[in-house]
Amino acid sequence: MKFAIGSDHAGFELKEHLKKYIASKNIDVIDVGTDRPESVDYPDFAAKVGKLVSENEVDFGILICGTGIGMSIAANKIKGIRAALCLMPEMASLARKHNNANVLVLPGRLIGFELATWIFDAFLNSSFEGGRHERRINKIKELEE
Ligand code: RB5
Repeated sequence: MKFAIGSDHAGFELKEHLKKYIASKNIDVIDVGTDRPESVDYPDFAAKVGKLVSENEVDFGILICGTGIGMSIAANKIKGIRAALCLMPEMASLARKHNNANVLVLPGRLIGFELATWIFDAFLNSSFEGGRHERRINKIKELEE
């Protein structure tokens, strides 16, 4: 299992924390930046993580900005990306089970470290259920064409 993680300045602190948490579980994690708290543009990091996921270089991505909204909008422009902004563990679990989300998006300015790890765990420990959800994902794929 391999993750890519990226953030802008508003998600930097949470990224650093979550990166260590993921590594402590013996999961590979590639950090695409940002590597400092100075202001940067979130689409640059959404593009880096999104590309690694869409080209199957990693299994899943994590993106963090202030609200998670900008990262979600940007990442979902990339073909094959299903980025889900999750504010609680149940959302992350359902994002995997129903939406086959391949990028978890978190709001660095709105949640604490501990809640972020719970949300990550829920994402990690849930799998796509297929069935009727597969049909809906296929309809989303049609929208990409
Ligand atoms: C940066 O100030 C902020 O706009 C960004 O982190 C994000 O919340 C955008 O959606």
